[in-house]
Amino acid sequence: MAEKTVSRHHGAHREQWSGQFGFVLAAIGSAVGLGNIWRFPGVAYENGGGAFLIPYLVALLTAGIPILLLDYSIGHRFRGSAPTSFRRMSKPAEGLGWFQVGVSLVITLYYTAVIAWAASFTVFAATQAWGENTEAFFFGEFLQISEAPGVGLDVVPGVLLPLALIWVVTVAILALGVQKGVERANVVFIPTLVVMFLAIVVRAVTLDGAAEGLNAFFTPDWAALTNPAVWIAAYGQIFFSLSIAFGIMITYSSYLRRRANLTSTGLVVGFGNSSFELLAGIGVFSALGFMAFQQGVAIDDLERIQGVGLAFVAFPQILSMMPGGPVFGVLFFASLTLAGLTSLLSILQVVSAAFQEKFGWSPRRAALIIGGTVAVVSTVLFSTTTALYVLDVTDKYINEVGVVGSAVVMTLVVGLALRRLRELQTHLNARPGVHVGGWWRVLVGLGVPLVLGYIFVTGVRSLLSTPYDDYPWDFLTPVGWGAVGLAVLVAIVMTVVPWRHDVDTFVPQELPPRELWGGRWSRVPSANGTASAPREEEQR
Ligand code: ALA
Repeated sequence: MAEKTVSRHHGAHREQWSGQFGFVLAAIGSAVGLGNIWRFPGVAYENGGGAFLIPYLVALLTAGIPILLLDYSIGHRFRGSAPTSFRRMSKPAEGLGWFQVGVSLVITLYYTAVIAWAASFTVFAATQAWGENTEAFFFGEFLQISEAPGVGLDVVPGVLLPLALIWVVTVAILALGVQKGVERANVVFIPTLVVMFLAIVVRAVTLDGAAEGLNAFFTPDWAALTNPAVWIAAYGQIFFSLSIAFGIMITYSSYLRRRANLTSTGLVVGFGNSSFELLAGIGVFSALGFMAFQQGVAIDDLERIQGVGLAFVAFPQILSMMPGGPVFGVLFFASLTLAGLTSLLSILQVVSAAFQEKFGWSPRRAALIIGGTVAVVSTVLFSTTTALYVLDVTDKYINEVGVVGSAVVMTLVVGLALRRLRELQTHLNARPGVHVGGWWRVLVGLGVPLVLGYIFVTGVRSLLSTPYDDYPWDFLTPVGWGAVGLAVLVAIVMTVVPWRHDVDTFVPQELPPRELWGGRWSRVPSANGTASAPREEEQR
């Protein structure tokens, strides 16, 4: 039994994607999520619309894609979840992996709540149940939020039920394993999502006033480029949106066969995700243009709409005014639900895989024990009348401190402390795909830690000095820092807990340099170094 566990985690019988396509779909499914549809248009709108696109693209090229490739190379070379991979790189680095697991765990708690709201709104959209006053409907009738921020246990049944349902679906898919559960769900959900979303965007750009909205989105405001806050928002958005630096892409790439193409796949996922994000921006800004047109005001004079308000207050309002509103409303909220679900699967897989490997559990056991526990906490905590306040603050702190902090530490540890970037670059380049040059090491080892370090310090200082969104300190501190503290606690406790099998006897598989086989698919070398057709060995 013990032997079986050992070999499973050494990689010989490790779960795998059915192939490159399954992985790409799952990785895109992970990246395209609430961050693209719900967060991006709001962040772009708050940061000057068109002006935001330039820092956003710079952030994608200088940090997004390089860190995505770093995640891929770590997970693929060391064939494990974040704690396993970091430990195999260097024993003391295991804690960083568990910190990423902790960050993912915190995100799953509230991320699921937003998916559950979207699922409920899919039903409401059919009859436009929100009526005339969409704001009163969302905050009052639906969420029943309390007057003052706090952490209460007053449960709202109308939120609890869909939330519990989303958790049941998620845990059930996860329990089926990587190929039969996660991959199959993505194969069905992602094409459905793309078709539905394209229909909505086509509808949005043909609305009256859409051109005004698109002008606001695409006209660069050069002055905004001198504002550091815009750059910070752009880098933060890229990290959340690409699912990087919190263990997801490390875990997902560890299920890829050994000779998979990592670099071209990374570019497809990175640019695919941003294309979807831009599409969401086009759809949302067209709709805002329509709203401004209906109200007879300029787009800049629309009431500032922030955060959740954009999807759950402004959109219902727009849908009520739009011809075909019920149909497009159902499509919009169903898209949000599906996009969220495929990302949630990946975030929870980070946690599940880490526990599977540490304790030798099966996917089903990990899904039931870990998924079940997280589900209960999330369902209770985020179906209360104070859920929105807790969600808002947790999201802010775990992203600005947890995710950005994890990225800074990861690049410092891998690049400066352990000096493993050259090895990882060789690993990427020994496989088919786009060649990664020395620029990658410069960006990951120097550029990213400097830029992100600055963003991290600025963000933390601002969190410590100015109360976020005017929340009282006695709420902000325990909830915000509590969320970060929970991730740190997971890191400490789980690093101390002993492994139930031999994780350390592991040798990364080397391939002959690509000069010997020309970098072509048809000549990918087999494990013994001879060129062969890829098929027969693909699954190993
Ligand atoms: N990448 C996921 C999103 O954008 C987490 O929502």
